[in-house]
Amino acid sequence: MSSGDHPGKWNSESERLGVKVDGLSLRNPFLVASGPPTSNANVIGKAFDEGWAGAVTKTTLLDHRKIRNVSPRYARWRDSGGRIVGWENIELISDRPFADWLDDFRRLKDRYPERVVIASVMEEANRDAWAEVIGRSLEAGVDGIELNLSCPHGLPERRMGSAMGQDPELLAEVCGWAAACRDGRPMWAKLTPNVTDIAAMGKIALDAGCTGVSAINTILSVMRIDLETLRPEPSVEGYSTAGGYSGTAVRPIALRMCMELGLMMTERSGDQAGVLSAMGGVETGEDAAQYLLAGASTVQVCTGVMIHGYDMVQPMCAGLRSFMVRHGFESIEAFRGRALPWLTSHSHLVQLQEDARAQRGKPAIEVARDADWRGDRIVEQSGLLSG
Ligand SMILES: Cc1cc2nc3c(=O)[nH]c(=O)nc-3n(C[C@H](O)[C@H](O)[C@H](O)COP(=O)(O)O)c2cc1C
Repeated sequence: MSSGDHPGKWNSESERLGVKVDGLSLRNPFLVASGPPTSNANVIGKAFDEGWAGAVTKTTLLDHRKIRNVSPRYARWRDSGGRIVGWENIELISDRPFADWLDDFRRLKDRYPERVVIASVMEEANRDAWAEVIGRSLEAGVDGIELNLSCPHGLPERRMGSAMGQDPELLAEVCGWAAACRDGRPMWAKLTPNVTDIAAMGKIALDAGCTGVSAINTILSVMRIDLETLRPEPSVEGYSTAGGYSGTAVRPIALRMCMELGLMMTERSGDQAGVLSAMGGVETGEDAAQYLLAGASTVQVCTGVMIHGYDMVQPMCAGLRSFMVRHGFESIEAFRGRALPWLTSHSHLVQLQEDARAQRGKPAIEVARDADWRGDRIVEQSGLLSG
């Protein structure tokens, strides 16, 4: 038994926070997302000891020799108080041999049989390669597969990662190949936010046979231009390349995309509905509650762990539990997706407000028309219009 497995803790936690999703049982909804915090069995073991219910491993592929990283490969954005709010990376997927990963999958499942290990895999547009990387990972005993169709830098130059997730036909084809290798275990397609309509892409993945979607991967970005050198950052030998943005700053964008995916899924029936594993800027139980209200069953964290460490999971569980107690929710399922019916079209909002004003006797609304803006009150009026 690992140090995180105190029977008392397990019981009190699973009473409220436990989730059953896609045939998996998790002690809480929290998974460490694919990235540096899941780059080998040792660090994943640390996550499990701290109380994470599962981990999605750093993305692997059959031939690791294709992967060559640069340094620096991160650029961070701090607010005026010094807090990191945004994180750009130009990191590739795992540079470790696939055989080492297979050993890690076995070791982790031996040592932590109740924790969930999801193997994140990527390959080129080749059916046999996908079948091999998935088949061998499943053979090594992982609980499920996440298909990385979304890494936004480096790999797309080789038609991998987001090059697949941005092309509807290729996405359908690859998800179809992958789903044909499924043996009853979950298979989640990890989607890129760098598309116009993420719900349409999610639907393609589910129609092709995936059992769920993970969203979001990172958002294409350039962190800043250095005003001394006049060059973009992160700077590698004087040059940069567009990278992936993550952390607190992306949460509103990720939340919108997850709500669109959640709405798409509620329109599907029964077993075809699919599950959502949500992520993007989660650092607290309250952040996580919002994704669960958007329809997610599990919540993943990558950048938060890189900023705060693995032990952030305990305050996250406490924060989520106290939100549930405050509302009298006995389980995650009791409130999962509750926010979805409240996201509607703008024309519906106009109609609702006109109806409400007609009933209430038309109180003045601030800046009803563009002609009402006043040059000497722009800051005040902008504030008055904020919800
Ligand atoms: C440094 C870094 C490396 C990452 N590597 C991977 C990866 O190998 N595979 C993958 O699917 N996602 C990768 N991601 C994306 C994260 O899993 C996650 O989708 C994204 O960062 C948004 O969540 P967050 O705000 O909690 O980090 C990486 C993110 C970061 C910051």
